[in-house]
Amino acid sequence: MQSHSMHDDMERVLFTHEQVQQRVKELGAEIARDYGDKDPHLITILKGSIPFLADLMRAMDRPLSLDVMAVASYAGHQSSGEVRVTKDLDESIEGRHVLVVEDIIDTGLTLAYVMRILANRAPASVRIATFLDKPSRRATPIEADYVGFTIPNAFAVGYGLDWNQRYRNLPYIGALKREIYDPGAG
Ligand code: PRP
Repeated sequence: MQSHSMHDDMERVLFTHEQVQQRVKELGAEIARDYGDKDPHLITILKGSIPFLADLMRAMDRPLSLDVMAVASYAGHQSSGEVRVTKDLDESIEGRHVLVVEDIIDTGLTLAYVMRILANRAPASVRIATFLDKPSRRATPIEADYVGFTIPNAFAVGYGLDWNQRYRNLPYIGALKREIYDPGAG
């Protein structure tokens, strides 16, 4: 049976697969160059950043290492930005050149909290690479060192980004139709 197409739920395509791949290649080359002889230690926050991480690390033609962490918002406290670590890093980051890899910075609250945790662990440096940046939604001053694309306040899905755990596997970034995420509107 043919299932409902995910593509039909898109209002428009924000960035095609080709644009995504091209931009990630550029970012990887730029980051690899910037780190010189310092091997970056990539830390990603699950789960939305998985496709970006996988492509970005392969666009960096240099030695690097990788670790992952997972965080969750406290139920009912999403806007507070207070998160709990549900899967911590495997390795110490003391003295290492950390590059945090994120799919999107929206309010910035998640990353601000994670940055505080990381700063307490004495890394040599911490930089941030985010594929998407939505500065219009920022609730705390945080900026990435590397940004794939800056986007307007649309509900972006695909390339790791979800709505209710769906659409992460779209190879492009789409803006979800409002009737999908807000059925009561209009
Ligand atoms: C998303 C995204 C960031 C965060 C950004 O994660 O991956 O971590 O939200 O939002 P903020 O800037 O407003 O804090 P989400 O909690 O949806 O988990 P996921 O990566 O598993 O989809």
